[in-house]
Amino acid sequence: MNIKEFQAEQTRLLEQAAQERRATALAHPNIALIKYWGNENDELRLPANPSLSMNLGDLQTVTTVTFDDNLTGDVLTINKVKFSGPALKRVADSLDLVRNLAGISSPARIDSESNVPVGSGIASSSAAFAALSLAATAAAGLDLDEAGLSRLARRGSGSASRSVPGGYCEWVTGTDQTSVATSIAPPGHWDLRDVVVVVSQEHKEVGSSGGHPLATTSSLQAARVMGVPARLAACRAALLARDLAVMGPIIEEDAVIMHAVMMSSQPPLYYWTPTTLALILAAQQWRTEGIPVYFTIDAGPNVHLICEVTHAEFVETKARKIAGVQAVISSKPGGPARLVG
Ligand code: DP6
Repeated sequence: MNIKEFQAEQTRLLEQAAQERRATALAHPNIALIKYWGNENDELRLPANPSLSMNLGDLQTVTTVTFDDNLTGDVLTINKVKFSGPALKRVADSLDLVRNLAGISSPARIDSESNVPVGSGIASSSAAFAALSLAATAAAGLDLDEAGLSRLARRGSGSASRSVPGGYCEWVTGTDQTSVATSIAPPGHWDLRDVVVVVSQEHKEVGSSGGHPLATTSSLQAARVMGVPARLAACRAALLARDLAVMGPIIEEDAVIMHAVMMSSQPPLYYWTPTTLALILAAQQWRTEGIPVYFTIDAGPNVHLICEVTHAEFVETKARKIAGVQAVISSKPGGPARLVG
């Protein structure tokens, strides 16, 4: 499908959604190459620093939102399991923003299917809130542009702002109006792979939402935030030039500085396990063997090994052999959030 056909299909699905009060949207999670950690404003999720990411095309969340006046409240299922409590509250809060925009008060059914391991530090919330924002606005009869959707997704989960546009995305700091993500390069710009090495699939004790407010308790956070613009500019330039030898060390440094902030927060957050460190050391070793591969790590113990497609199989095979590794999932760059039904 070319861009014109894609846009025509999106318009058709949008019209259908407004009529049926029901829409299905797909979004990919993303991996941050330059990290978001800490907010200027926690409620609005206005980040302390800009960030840069790659959408993961082989991982996805597909969410259907149906507004239905016969319901007595919002009903949420994720992978066919019904959720209440904090998970439902977070989704309902996002839907309230949509209901306010559309001037409606109808409850909704939200059915979400995902192949992203929940709570494992693969930022499943990025795909979840990007898909939810698009499906909910379409089902409510709203036609938001990319910036409007990115802003709405950001309110649900900061990293979700970067799952709205396609490919490689940059999310800027700013106000509630201006802090949105845009694509800096399409998925086809560079055939990178994120070889996601799952060390633990357990739910984290303190997830990202609980971690962001702790960032300023670390005396390293101010230094981290100050250094981001220079790292991001260098990372963006290397990405646009497809220069992994330059980009790799920058993304590793950025991830390690974020984890230094986490470990020196009050209370401290230690996400690394011995297997995490074994993978960091392994990546260094593979580089001495001529394989250009670099790591990044989100708010969890799993290690994302970034390499070009030509080296992905080597990295996958080697990673599987490391003690403590539970699964390895490789992903290519992914497109934007889109309506699929
Ligand atoms: C370490 O976007 O998951 O993955 O806004 O509270 O949902 P909430 O946080 P979230 O934070 C992501 C943190 C990170 C780095 C990143 O993705 O930039």
